[in-house]
Amino acid sequence: MPLLRPRAPDRVDIDGHYGLMDAAEAAGILLAPPTEREPDAAYAALHAHGPILQVSAPLYLVSGYAAVDRALRDPAMETFDAAQLEVAWPGWREYRAVALFADSMLRANPPHHTRQRRLASGVFTARRVAALRAVVAEQVDVLLGELTAYGNGVDLVGRLAYPLPIAVITALLGVPVEDRGKFRRLAEALTGVLEMHWTEADRVRADAAADELIEYFGHLVELRRAQPADDLVTALAAAHDADGERLTADELLANLALLLVAGFETTTNLIGNAVVLLLDHPAYADKLRDDAELATAYVEEVLRIDSPVQLTTRRVARAAEVGGVTVPAGAELVLLLGAANRDPDRFAKPDVFDPDRAGVSPLSFGAGAHYCLGAPLARMEAQVALPALLRRFPDLALAERPKRRARMNLRGWRELPVTLTR
Ligand code: HEM
Repeated sequence: MPLLRPRAPDRVDIDGHYGLMDAAEAAGILLAPPTEREPDAAYAALHAHGPILQVSAPLYLVSGYAAVDRALRDPAMETFDAAQLEVAWPGWREYRAVALFADSMLRANPPHHTRQRRLASGVFTARRVAALRAVVAEQVDVLLGELTAYGNGVDLVGRLAYPLPIAVITALLGVPVEDRGKFRRLAEALTGVLEMHWTEADRVRADAAADELIEYFGHLVELRRAQPADDLVTALAAAHDADGERLTADELLANLALLLVAGFETTTNLIGNAVVLLLDHPAYADKLRDDAELATAYVEEVLRIDSPVQLTTRRVARAAEVGGVTVPAGAELVLLLGAANRDPDRFAKPDVFDPDRAGVSPLSFGAGAHYCLGAPLARMEAQVALPALLRRFPDLALAERPKRRARMNLRGWRELPVTLTR
C-alpha cells in the first residue's frame, strides 16, 4: 500500500475543483485542513486505487460503497468512546466539545450505546415523524411567505434551510422559540471538532460552544423538572431521574445537545445542497415542480451526490477484512460516506446528478447500529420544502455562484442568495 507523501504543489484547481491526482495525493487533500473545494476528484483518485487505502501504520481511508457499508455494520468496528479516549489521550476531557460527543450515543459502543439509543428512539418513530408532516408543511408555507417580503437577493440558507429544521427540532425537544436564533453559531463552532483536521482556535471555539450548550440544557432540564411538558427534554430528564443507571447526568445533557445540533445542522445543508443542484439542473427542477411525488427520489439523489455528512470514523476492535484487506486490531478507519456514494462500482456515472436512478440507497445516514436516528425526519423536511419552494417561485434562480462552507465533513453552502422573480 502506498504511504502518504507530501501534496504536489502544482495541483490544478479549476473552478473550485481539484484536477487529476493519485490516491496518495487524494489522501493528503482529504486529511489536510478543510477548504471550500469539492472533494470529487480526490474521491475518484481513491476509487481508481481501490476500496481502501492505507495512509499510515494505524490509518486507513475507506472509499468503496460495499466496504464502507460492511464496516458500518460490523460489530468489530467501534466508535471512539470515552473508555478508549481515557486510555489513548490523557487529559482528553479538557476538550469539552470532544467530551460532549463522547458522552452521547454517537460515540458510545454497546452496551452503553444500546441503552442510550433505546431511550431516544421512542421519539423518532416513523409514525411520529409522519404525524409531523402537516406541521412541517405549515412552517414551510410561513417561511415561503416571508421570503417574498425579503425580495430578490434573499439568502435561502438564512431564511429557509436553517429556520425550518431549527423550528422542528426545537419544538420536538421543547426548546423555547425565543432561543432559536443562537444555535446556528453554536453548532457551527461545536461541529468544528467533527472535521478530520482542526486548529487550536477551532478547538477553543468548539469548547466554548460545548460549555454554553451544556449549561443551556442544564437550565432547561431544571425548568422542565419544575414544569413538565410533552417534549423530549422532559422525557429524557424523567428517564434519568427515574434511574441514573439508564442515563447518567452527563449523558442526558450530551444527548440533548447532540439531538439539537444533529437535528438541524445537517438538514440545513441537505436543503441548501438540494436547492443548488436543482437550480443547476432546471429540467429536473421543472419535473419536481410539476410532480411533488418525485421528491422522495430527488432527495435520495441529492443525499447521494452531495452528502451533508461526508465521513465518519471507526476503530478496529478485532482484526477484520475491509475491502479485501485485513486490517489489524487498533487500526483507525475513515469511512468516506461521500466517496462511497460516488463509487463507480455501485453507481453508473457517479458524478452525474440523475434523480431518475433506481435503488439509490446512499450511505449518507450511515448504516448499522449508529444509523441516523433523525433520517426519516430530515428526509421528510426536505421532501416537503423543495417542491413547495419551486412551486411558489417558478422563476427561482441563483443570484450569484454561492460559496461552500470551508468544511470537509459537514458539506453545505455558507449562503444561498437567490432571485425569486425575474
Ligand atoms: C440530512 C440530514 C442528516 C444526515 C446526513 C445525518 C447523518 C448522520 C450519520 C451519517 C450518522 C451516523 C454517524 C456514525 O455512524 O458515526 C448520524 C447519526 C445520528 N443522527 Fe443524523 N443526520 C441527519 C439528520 C439528523 C436529524 C434531523 C437528527 C435528529 C432529529 C439526527 C440525529 C442523529 C443522531 C442522534 C445520531 C446518532 C445515532 C447513534 O449513534 O445511534 N440526524 N446522522
